[in-house]
Amino acid sequence: MIAPLTISFRVNGRDRSIAVAPNHTLLDVLRDDLGLTGTKECCLVGECGACTVLLDGRSVDSCLVLAAEVDGGEVTTVEGLAVDGQLTAVQGAFLDTGAAQCGFCIPGQIVSAHALLAATPSPDREQVEEALAGNLCRCAGYEQIIEAVLLAAEAPARPATRATPMTGDIAARPDARTAPQ
Ligand code: FES
Ligand code: FES
Repeated sequence: MIAPLTISFRVNGRDRSIAVAPNHTLLDVLRDDLGLTGTKECCLVGECGACTVLLDGRSVDSCLVLAAEVDGGEVTTVEGLAVDGQLTAVQGAFLDTGAAQCGFCIPGQIVSAHALLAATPSPDREQVEEALAGNLCRCAGYEQIIEAVLLAAEAPARPATRATPMTGDIAARPDARTAPQ
C-alpha cells in the first residue's frame, strides 16, 4: 500500500490540511473528503468540464489534477463563489435566463464564467463561447448559458430577480453523482 501524503491548501477561503492517496485527484478530495459535491463527476478524462474549479484563479478540470499538485494552492469551488448567501451576478443571471435545465453541468459552467469575467470583464459572444467550449451541456442549453454570461458581464452588480438566499447545509443536499443519460 502506498503511504498517503499530507497536503495543505485553501478551499473556499478556509485552510485545510488533509491526508490523501497519491493517486487521488483534486476532484476525489473535494467530493469524497471535503463533501463539496457541487463540483460534479462525469467523464473523468477532461472532456466535459463538469468538474471545473478555480485553482489559483485559473479554471481547471479537477479530475485531471492530482491532489498532491494543489499543496500550497488556493481552490474555489462553486460553493465558494457566493458570499454570505448572496448569489454572484453570474449565478443570478443563470437563474434569470433559465440557463439551468437538469442542472448537472451548471456548476462547471458558472465557475468557467467567473474565470472568464475575472480576466475579461466585457467579453463578446465569441469570447464567451470560447471560454465555455470545454463545458458540455447534455441538455443543450447553450443559448441561455451564453445569454446569462453576457448579462452578468453587462451588469456585474445587478441582483438576480429570481434569486433566493441560500440556506441550510449544501453538503447535505441530494446530489446526483453521475450525469443524466
Ligand atoms: S469530469 Fe472532469 S472534465 Fe469531465
Ligand atoms: S443543464 Fe447542462 S447538462 Fe443539463
